[in-house]
Amino acid sequence: MCGIVGYIGSKNATPVLIKALKKLEYRGYDSAGIAVYTADEIIVRKVKGALKNLGEKITGELVKASKTDPEYEKQEMAIYEKTADFIKGNVGIGHTRWATHGEPSDTNSHPHTNMDGSISIVHNGIIENYAELKAKLQAEGVVFQSQTDTEVVVHLIDKAYREEKDIFKAVLKVIHLLEGSYALGVLCKDYPDRIICCRKESPLVVGIGSGENFIASDVPALLEHTRDVYYLGEKELAVLYSDHVDLFNFEGEKIIKQPSHVEWDMAAAEKGGYPHFMIKEIHEQPKGLTDTMRPRIVKDSSGKPVDVFFEENKMDDAWRNAKRVVITACGTAYHAGVVAKYAFEKIARMKVDIDVASEFRYRDPILDKDDIFIVVSQSGETADTLSALRLAKQNGLKVVAITNCVGSTVSREADDVIYTLAGPEIAVASTKAYTTQVLCMYMLAIKAGKLRGTLTDSEASKLLAELEAMPGKVQQILDGKDIIQKFASRQFNKDKIFYIGRQFDSATSLESALKLKEVSYMHSEAFAAGELKHGPIALIDPQTLVVAISSEPHLYEKIGSNMVEVKARGATVLVITQDEKSFEGKADEVFKIPECSSTLSSLLTVIPTQLFAYYCAVLRGIDPDKPRNLAKSVTVE
Ligand code: M6R
Repeated sequence: MCGIVGYIGSKNATPVLIKALKKLEYRGYDSAGIAVYTADEIIVRKVKGALKNLGEKITGELVKASKTDPEYEKQEMAIYEKTADFIKGNVGIGHTRWATHGEPSDTNSHPHTNMDGSISIVHNGIIENYAELKAKLQAEGVVFQSQTDTEVVVHLIDKAYREEKDIFKAVLKVIHLLEGSYALGVLCKDYPDRIICCRKESPLVVGIGSGENFIASDVPALLEHTRDVYYLGEKELAVLYSDHVDLFNFEGEKIIKQPSHVEWDMAAAEKGGYPHFMIKEIHEQPKGLTDTMRPRIVKDSSGKPVDVFFEENKMDDAWRNAKRVVITACGTAYHAGVVAKYAFEKIARMKVDIDVASEFRYRDPILDKDDIFIVVSQSGETADTLSALRLAKQNGLKVVAITNCVGSTVSREADDVIYTLAGPEIAVASTKAYTTQVLCMYMLAIKAGKLRGTLTDSEASKLLAELEAMPGKVQQILDGKDIIQKFASRQFNKDKIFYIGRQFDSATSLESALKLKEVSYMHSEAFAAGELKHGPIALIDPQTLVVAISSEPHLYEKIGSNMVEVKARGATVLVITQDEKSFEGKADEVFKIPECSSTLSSLLTVIPTQLFAYYCAVLRGIDPDKPRNLAKSVTVE
């Protein structure tokens, strides 16, 4: 997820663009840049790190106050205003980046330009076929500066412009060559009176001003200037001039749209209309799963999914020969590892050992150089996970990192990196990072199963087709969230909540209990359902809520018995299952998830429990985005 902006009008574009980017920093903050047309050339300034670095680079002045000092923001904004003295122009585009292809660096920052610097673009999204497009362009002599997927787009536009002699026709031609998602802003030196923009599967809003117009990935970037907007629809283009905006479809035909008037305030707008980042991020899971999966699933000529391909993966031989998988991580990421334990055993028939990183690093673990070591970390900066990674490397193991942050320490130190393409996760409680981690584990297990011959081609295709259906099923659960909200409104005062499950569902139980305690401060614990009778059942009383997670048909009867045992002792019981009939009379409430293979059900069963945790937090008057005593990234022991 990145943020893009554009401005055309009579004001100096430089501070307008930078201040608009400030409102989009929540979409990415590992680098920033602008391109402004000035005196017959396009000036590009871009830099790794936060937007502040861009302001400092342009003006040569530094923000001197510390981040906690109230002066900090004033100095930062003063520097942004001052950029007007250094780059003077009335049209430009800008970008704040969340790296997906290529680490955060000055060169990989946007805008990207063609070889003579006459065309400049900003992009939010992922160009899935960039590798093949890049190879063709390189064969034609194009020299690439960056490792990004985006740079192919500007070189393709350059080529098409030389053929078509018209920048609009060139953009129109190129979008038909691109696969994946994109919101693009295009600036061309030969057309200083316009900005061209378009979108497919990535958001883009056109702000309508008086004698000036704007583009932005999200409304907050526009609110200082206008509340009148066109929400660009799927596969639509816009050409912005200072005095009007023309809209087109992807066939190049003009379209007419009614502008919308934004009524939200700034705070709500930054969260896309959601009251908190946590619920926004819960709702972003279908997209995060699609983005993480789509570039990695290989299809045959009939469109049937047949294999998994991780571009970054250089370890096929290691996977073929490995005797064991060892997984370490912390918190929610560790729970993704617990799902992986079941997935690797079942799908790839591989032995798996798993430990929390804070324990692993102080053990004297028995490691074999043929083991594959997997670390999972949303931030890629967690101190314990990093130490575990280093210990594994000292022992000669190959390390695979699953992380959401390109360029993070974990990603740099691992032998292989698989990125979850969930976009930045702002809320402290991890939701979309977790489901995309689980997805990567499933894909890795399928790949390992194929490489090791433990999974037949038809079994692999079946699982992959099921995986492809998951984003839609997650959406179905989200669409039915009212049931969970109502349930939460009856249960949020309970003082004991137990999650129980077996196998894959016991992994979901662990994550569900953590999520609930993290954001609602309710005392929740997870138990392997069969363990209840060995002690925890002593805690059951009428103040207890037991959430039974049950997605594996061969275990319905077993978990049904556990439910009856706790119900008989006064507990309220909710069951989350694909088959409510199997639990008739055994639960007080049923939440039905869409039917799915029980092997992959961990992607679904967790969604209602994330929602439950969120609603309980809100009902208890807690800000779920910033729970007490917690930090998003735990970089100390
Ligand atoms: O950035 P990481 O994934 O390495 O972080 C690990 C844990 O600190 C993290 O998952 C934590 O448990 C979350 N707050 C859970 O919501």
